[in-house]
Amino acid sequence: MLPFSSLLFALFAVLFVSATPASSPSSRDLLADVINALKIGLVTHINVTITLDTLSDNLVTINFEAQNPLIIELTIDSVSTSAGLNNTEFASFDHKFARPVVVPPLKKANSGDIPNVLLTQGATASLDIIPLGILDLLNVDVNVRAGSFFGRGGVPLKITGLRQTKVPTTYNLLLG
Ligand SMILES: *[C@@H]1O[C@H](CO)[C@@H](O)[C@H](O)[C@H]1NC(C)=O
Ligand SMILES: *[C@@H]1O[C@H](CO)[C@@H](O)[C@H](O)[C@H]1NC(C)=O
Repeated sequence: MLPFSSLLFALFAVLFVSATPASSPSSRDLLADVINALKIGLVTHINVTITLDTLSDNLVTINFEAQNPLIIELTIDSVSTSAGLNNTEFASFDHKFARPVVVPPLKKANSGDIPNVLLTQGATASLDIIPLGILDLLNVDVNVRAGSFFGRGGVPLKITGLRQTKVPTTYNLLLG
């Protein structure tokens, strides 16, 4: 296991490289590669709310908890996600936050509700995965600002190709 300080150093090094104006898309993907390789897991929990309407419109509302492994603030402006199990996508969304999500250094923050998340296999097929209580993030692209100050400013970074397996997932059934 890497000492935490070298992990931070690696992340900062990549962040710095990624943040240089001349950086190519591939150097930015490097940040995702490092986060994936170190299995940092920026998303620690997913919370899905299913209603009666879900059965006809295949839409759910989700929120997620994100953690910040860095000693600088991260602010999430938008996120685009494909989630599922065993490489099969069950849900996807593309969301720009009206109020960006501020994740303080070394802390967690909740995204707030993201409505209209499409169940790509349909609601009925999705019922099968509820008892498993986990979701894999097959692909996550996120626009963040690193080193923001209470959500303002910071270095904009587009991180593409984040992946995670077995993220603990809670399902709320609002069928009343
Ligand atoms: C899940 O989200 C719903 C709706 O926002 C909220 O009421 C509930 O407390 C959340 N549950 C967990 C475990 O985060
Ligand atoms: C995923 O794969 C595992 C192992 O191959 C299997 O046990 C499980 O039923 C699969 N789950 C889904 C939702 O397809």
